[in-house]
Amino acid sequence: MRAEVLLALLLPWIMPVTASAAQPHQEQLAREELSSVLHATPDLVHGRELFSICSECHGHRGEGNASGWPPQIAGQHRTVIAKELVDYRAGVRWYDPMERIAGRHVLHSVQDIADVAAYAASLPPSADTTPGPVPSAERATGIYRARCEWCHGAQGEGSEERLVPRVAGQQYEYLLRQLQDTIGARRPNMQAQHRRLLEGRSIEELKDLAAYMSRLGRIPGT
Ligand code: HEC
Ligand code: HEC
Repeated sequence: MRAEVLLALLLPWIMPVTASAAQPHQEQLAREELSSVLHATPDLVHGRELFSICSECHGHRGEGNASGWPPQIAGQHRTVIAKELVDYRAGVRWYDPMERIAGRHVLHSVQDIADVAAYAASLPPSADTTPGPVPSAERATGIYRARCEWCHGAQGEGSEERLVPRVAGQQYEYLLRQLQDTIGARRPNMQAQHRRLLEGRSIEELKDLAAYMSRLGRIPGT
């Protein structure tokens, strides 16, 4: 099934109910823009030019940074990158520099977003990201398999069609911060059901989960 068709089916699921009450206008904007972005035909050459803006923070290969501020975006699903960009642009995901970059002064048009998202998605995921400490195997594997795997995938591969982020090999510090931001309601584009999956977990469990995901897809021993 084409991504835009699935999107129409999944939108009520993807767009958080809580945010719709708080920011109906922005959410509507994001929803419409995402649909236009996913209908556009990406121009990878233009996407590559635009990527020079991104590489200043996300790295030349899109690998992100061990500090976990800029995440790895290389090899992330095109649909996910597009969704996050329109969410920052509409203010339904918060981080000032990204809100400005995804805003109309830097990425002018829907076409720009489609181009840069497709280019970043086409980059191979890097082997140079920084994993977390070796997690308590039993605890992390148990929670991940029971609660996360059915969406994020056994290998952390996520899903292009369902707009589920690839988490395999992601920077550990970034993953941990996203889990904490979700619980602390600092990532409004995460739906309430997702927050409930994480609420009540101890910091040790969150660290184990982030470390487990950051180590998926890696060559053993690295
Ligand atoms: C000033 C530094 C900076 C620049 C330049 C920048 N980013 Fe970011 N980006 C970040 C940081 C830091 C985050 C994580 C913020 C957060 O926690 O929400 C981020 C997050 C993202 C995310 C969310 C990733 C995910 O897995 O959800 C995407 C997608 C993204 N950036 C794409 C881009 C693209 C495309 C460009 C270029 C057009 C770009 N960024 C330019 C710093 C930057
Ligand atoms: C029902 C499907 C589903 C389940 C189950 C699920 N997730 Fe997610 N997850 C998503 C989606 C969809 C997003 C993207 C949200 C957005 O930004 O629109 C996401 C985002 C994330 C992110 C942020 C990734 C990034 O690139 O910023 C992390 C980390 C994460 N999930 C961890 C988990 C963990 C840990 C579990 C299990 C406890 C879990 N998820 C269970 C669907 C799911």
